[in-house]
Amino acid sequence: MKALVYHGPGNKSWEDVPDPQILRPTDAIVRIDTTTICGTDLHILKGDVPAVDDGRILGHEGVGTITEVGPGVQSLAVGDRVIISCVSACGTCGYCRKGLYSHCLADEGMSGIGWILGHLIDGTQAELVRIPFADSSLHKVPAGVDDQTAVMLSDIIPTGFEIGVRKGNVSEGDIVAVIGTGPVGLAAIATSMLDGPSRVIAVDLDDNRLEQSLRFGATDTVNSSTPGWYDTLMAMTDGLGVDVAMEAVGIPQTFEMCTRIVRPGGHIANLGVHGASVDLPLQDLWIKDITLTTGLVSTSTTPLLLRLVEHGKLRASAFATHTFALDEIDEAYDVFSRAADTKALKVMLTR
Ligand SMILES: NC(=O)c1ccc[n+]([C@@H]2O[C@H](COP(=O)([O-])OP(=O)(O)OC[C@H]3O[C@@H](n4cnc5c(N)ncnc54)[C@H](O)[C@@H]3O)[C@@H](O)[C@H]2O)c1
Ligand SMILES: [Zn+2]
Ligand SMILES: [Zn+2]
Repeated sequence: MKALVYHGPGNKSWEDVPDPQILRPTDAIVRIDTTTICGTDLHILKGDVPAVDDGRILGHEGVGTITEVGPGVQSLAVGDRVIISCVSACGTCGYCRKGLYSHCLADEGMSGIGWILGHLIDGTQAELVRIPFADSSLHKVPAGVDDQTAVMLSDIIPTGFEIGVRKGNVSEGDIVAVIGTGPVGLAAIATSMLDGPSRVIAVDLDDNRLEQSLRFGATDTVNSSTPGWYDTLMAMTDGLGVDVAMEAVGIPQTFEMCTRIVRPGGHIANLGVHGASVDLPLQDLWIKDITLTTGLVSTSTTPLLLRLVEHGKLRASAFATHTFALDEIDEAYDVFSRAADTKALKVMLTR
């Protein structure tokens, strides 16, 4: 088969590799019908994720059709159309039983790390992929939900909802700010709507992304490259700041912005993957009763989110901006990595 293989920082190629095989009874082989590229794949290509070895097939998002199941797979069969979760879960370890699949203790990939696809084992940017623990790592796609909608449930929508909305404890009437309106920030904005906030303020440097955010439910936008951004944002809040400040970029500057705009009694929910330490002004925050949360998505909410998508309560397909054939993946990476010019959100790769 063909697959996108990582060969060290800055190096990848769409090349011939052996077809994946069933290695354990609980595995399934899935033919990829639609996959996409994540900001995290770009981090890997920059060399920010050193655990990824030369020779690894990239990708942790996808929708496909099962072509083979191991004898231990119980709930799925050949021919089923499935969403591949970015996090693989054995379903039986202590963390899985708490719904914290992100820390699955099974020895596939590495014990304690649930995100293994396209990281510690071969991933989804390929014609076929082996999925371990298929029963608890795949979700059947309801008829009527198309691929470009379903693939948003592999990673970005659960991430926005679990790490942004749920950990940030968004509640009715809240004023929410989301700093960074890439796909993950937009997913947090879209799923915030489920909890009835009164105002959702999108913050970014890119006017195109800010304009897009209004389509996902943002009520207001603030371009933080403008000198008066702080006053503009605080004026939208009655002067006290926001109830929930979400960080969806992954740099110290935007984390620090969250600590400035959160109101007493409020929450900071960090979604961004950080590569450097941040300054935590605890001397100011302790007396403000601030809750700070962070985490790796578990995708435990995928069934719930899928139901909302199926019944039209969440418009996931709006994230798809470009479509390519699987073998045009180099071009797709180029378009995705120049999002400010190309206005790309999620690029679809289809067979
Ligand atoms: N916690 C998790 O489980 C999880 C899962 C998936 C992705 N992530 C992380 O979430 C973050 C966002 O992912 P994405 O795919 O949406 O990324 P992205 O790069 O597409 O979007 C980031 C956005 O932040 C904006 N931005 C950059 N610098 C800014 C600044 N100084 N002020 C305001 N806005 C700024 C950019 O213009 C862009 O719109 C990344 O760090 C990613 O690695 C975390
Ligand atoms: Zn991802
Ligand atoms: Zn587990």
